[in-house]
Amino acid sequence: MKVLVLGNGGREHALAWKLAQSQRVSEVFVAPGNGGTARDPCLKNVAITDVQALADFALAEKISLTVVGPEAFLAAGVVDEFRARGLRIFGPTKAAAQLESSKAFAKDFMKRHGIPTAAYETFGDAALAHAYVDQQGAPIVIKADGLAAGKGVVVAMSLAEAHEAIDWILQDNKLGVAHNEGGARVVIEAFMQGEEASFIVLCDGKNVVSLATSQDHKRLLDKDEGPNTGGMGAYSPAPVVTPNVHAKVMHEIIMPTIQGMARDGHPFTGFLYAGLMIDEQGNPRTVEFNTRLGDPETQPIMMRLKSDLFEVLMHATDGTLDQVELQWDRRVALGVVLAASGYPLSPRKGDLVSGLPADKEDAMVFHAGTVLKDGDLLTNGGRVLCVTALGESVRQAQQLAYETLTPIQFEGKQFRQDIGHRAVKR
Ligand code: GLY
Repeated sequence: MKVLVLGNGGREHALAWKLAQSQRVSEVFVAPGNGGTARDPCLKNVAITDVQALADFALAEKISLTVVGPEAFLAAGVVDEFRARGLRIFGPTKAAAQLESSKAFAKDFMKRHGIPTAAYETFGDAALAHAYVDQQGAPIVIKADGLAAGKGVVVAMSLAEAHEAIDWILQDNKLGVAHNEGGARVVIEAFMQGEEASFIVLCDGKNVVSLATSQDHKRLLDKDEGPNTGGMGAYSPAPVVTPNVHAKVMHEIIMPTIQGMARDGHPFTGFLYAGLMIDEQGNPRTVEFNTRLGDPETQPIMMRLKSDLFEVLMHATDGTLDQVELQWDRRVALGVVLAASGYPLSPRKGDLVSGLPADKEDAMVFHAGTVLKDGDLLTNGGRVLCVTALGESVRQAQQLAYETLTPIQFEGKQFRQDIGHRAVKR
């Protein structure tokens, strides 16, 4: 069977790597892929990103299953187009993907269905937004309504930061937001205290299977300082998601969301990612929904998944996820992102990457912002690589990940030294 993975990040490299391990898979195409998927003899890059042309390719190549990585393809309606042409694809429709592509849609949905989240207001008018934050005070959270590659959320610790964020999003669009119909809008919400975790499930419209839990590191710098990024590292499992918290998340957030989407006429199929804030009493609230796998969370999660991902996704697209029980490696997996100079606001491209170690069973280098040009591997985006390792404990996984990344060189490389710090302290 032939499989197509859409996207060019570390998440897609990890997905394609895992799918290629299935006995039932003969070829894995990645569109458009990156330097890592280009170098891997088990994968084939396809230089197509247009939705219609991708469906043409899938028909011509007799692709059995397409898996969507990034949100932009979902918001462009790739699932609707493939389904209309009789192609099997795993992901949400454009309407269901609004849970991620519109923060205002997601917040209204959560309010309507009683799903725990922070209080909020939505504004298109900058003067009203400024007046609202003055009235509420800081800390306060400012979110762009559209997609911004993980950079559209500002946790403002002061009123000055909050006002600046409103202007960035509503007037100057410095965060590069893909605004929804009706123009720029911000969702302003109450700051939540607690520890964050990523809770990702597979849904077939009705049945749900949870993936191993994980935790991301969104800030650029050690000690969770500096600007927000798409994610600088992740590990799995996340100890903050105890069995009790897990049960609450399923009962109070995930199942009401799946049932609510079905009731609203948008049955959810695909990966659903609830970004959680868990308070000291173990009560989870929803920070945001993503309608896809997390990046870099996918890289450690795929390292731990023992089940055949192709088989699982065939069940997911047949509506038979109730027959699936996932098997996990009991070891911890931890991934450290190496980012380009200038990331997150203006990452530099074209720097030569050298010193890559060979992949091993317990240490993999997943590529994201890389390109292969005349035999050289060059940086080609903000997050360049995610070095992911397995270990008997968080500390051992951390040690192996950092040992593995030490020989890797490129000009201006940035990475955090403390990935996994919350779990190490426990
Ligand atoms: N790592 C956060 C995200 O994928 O949105």
